[in-house]
Amino acid sequence: MKEQIRCAVLGLGRLGYWHAENLASKVKGAKLVYVGDPFGDLAERTARELGIEKFATDANRVLEDPSIDAVIIATPTHTHAEMLEKAAQHGKHIFIEKPLTQSLAEADRAIAAVRKHRVSCQVGFMRRFDGAYAEAKRRIQAGDIGTPLYFKGVSRDPGSPPEAFIKNSGGIFLDMSIHDYDIARFLLSAEATSVSAHGNVLVHSFMEAYGDADQAIAYLSFDSGAAADIEASRNAFYGYDIRGEVIGSEGSLLIGSLRHHDVQLLTRNGSTHDIVPAFPQRFKDAYLNEICHFIDCLRRGEAPSVNEQDGKIALEIALAARESYETGQRIALPGYA
Ligand SMILES: NC(=O)c1ccc[n+]([C@@H]2O[C@H](COP(=O)([O-])OP(=O)(O)OC[C@H]3O[C@@H](n4cnc5c(N)ncnc54)[C@H](O)[C@@H]3O)[C@@H](O)[C@H]2O)c1
Repeated sequence: MKEQIRCAVLGLGRLGYWHAENLASKVKGAKLVYVGDPFGDLAERTARELGIEKFATDANRVLEDPSIDAVIIATPTHTHAEMLEKAAQHGKHIFIEKPLTQSLAEADRAIAAVRKHRVSCQVGFMRRFDGAYAEAKRRIQAGDIGTPLYFKGVSRDPGSPPEAFIKNSGGIFLDMSIHDYDIARFLLSAEATSVSAHGNVLVHSFMEAYGDADQAIAYLSFDSGAAADIEASRNAFYGYDIRGEVIGSEGSLLIGSLRHHDVQLLTRNGSTHDIVPAFPQRFKDAYLNEICHFIDCLRRGEAPSVNEQDGKIALEIALAARESYETGQRIALPGYA
């Protein structure tokens, strides 16, 4: 077993900072030695704050450092393909945020590079590492709901990310619903065969310029005979609302809740509780668990449980959903035409 994995984090925005903070102090067997971000003095400030040895504004300098074993890529989505290829060429093991890339051609090139240079690649589908989704998987495997027949996924953001993010995000199916496409495959143990999707801009009119939607739904059929519907919204002004349901032949599993703290206020006016505000609170433990899994696998020389191929399959579904939204047609997934 390898004693220590020397890591770098590229991209120190909403999610990258979170990964850096976890790696700097909470992940056994990891040493965060390099952080990179081109924005102002963000890398320098982060390095100072977290006590990291090295920082850079140029990702290439980080990737060229021979002392780095693994890199966490949390840069904007449109940069993933290039980052993945370069990281693999420099022999770095890779943890990459979702989506893997923005196109299937990019995904194929990235996967070829990962295989050619014999590096590990884990994709940031952190829901697989969330207590509630992981427990649902365990219950399904234990046979508690019989045969899984239907998955309902709800993912609602409290508002839109900034326009600069939306512009490069690939749109709601790629940026948001991709988590549910992956978790549907994971929970149903099945592959999607076709998708029909619809969407609208109900609130954030700036999205029209990018062909994006702020409210969307996709209906998926699976090769097991199961089906799913997956809603995504940027309009949950009450909070961050992530829930799921798996309906089986013997019962049903309800996954997740809106409750942030497990406290309910009862007064003569009724009962209330607070609501999960945003993703860092809802998935705090899952973000840590997924990075611990990545480092643990590298130390043991094992393959991560969610890899570049899972990233590509979820991307295929997301791209098909986007095509369906744009054309109004039901789209068959590759291999199921
Ligand atoms: N798993 C999740 O729940 C989750 C949540 C949010 C975002 N994400 C994903 O994480 C990625 C980043 O999203 P975000 O919300 O943190 O974005 P962000 O815009 O907040 O941060 C991105 C950071 O990357 C930096 N950057 C840009 N180009 C770079 C380069 N060439 N090298 C190094 N750094 C560079 C930017 O300066 C910025 O600081 C996206 O792919 C997004 O889909 C995942």
